[in-house]
Amino acid sequence: MQPTLVSKPDSVVINNERFRPYLTRDAIAARIKDVAAEIDRDLDGKVPILVGVLNGAFIFLADLMRALSIECEVDFLKLSSYGAAKISSGRVHELKSLDADIEGRHVILVEDIVDTGLSMEFLQKKMQEFKPASLRTAVLLHKKEATRIPLELDYVCFEIDNLFVVGYGLDFAQVGRQLADIYILEG
Ligand code: IMP
Repeated sequence: MQPTLVSKPDSVVINNERFRPYLTRDAIAARIKDVAAEIDRDLDGKVPILVGVLNGAFIFLADLMRALSIECEVDFLKLSSYGAAKISSGRVHELKSLDADIEGRHVILVEDIVDTGLSMEFLQKKMQEFKPASLRTAVLLHKKEATRIPLELDYVCFEIDNLFVVGYGLDFAQVGRQLADIYILEG
């Protein structure tokens, strides 16, 4: 069987769709360093809890957490995904809830990508129900053009084109998460 994914390919084909290189691992690492420095400043003296949204955010969260100098904790929750589709179903529900008690805590929601904004809107409302001391959001990618819902996003690493992306934790039908760089659908 031919491997679909090789390290640093010029293009990646998943389910007969071709993706071209878009954001390199170096560009991602540099941007995360800057965002982490902002978080260090904003939450100096606090111990925030990073809440990662599974599955897509686990790589971003791991790198962001290691780039922080302040002490922090981590927890995860999981939402329903797109499945094998490239467009949002328009419905969001929770598949795994938080284990940590976040009441009175400084929370940073860590998401891989904001597309329509439905998931983020759902998450922000959900987190507020637990009465955190503060709630911030750290997002790796924002498809600003696709987001119809007014959202407050505190830390956005990259605003990107409104096209499907894979790599660095993001998948297409569960394939492509392991790619160290981010690839975008050839339009
Ligand atoms: P939203 O609710 O439409 O903002 O979508 C958010 C979720 O959809 C993200 O957490 C991802 O799991 C998934 N998603 C949105 N766009 C992409 C993409 O371009 N590639 C991979 N997953 C995506």
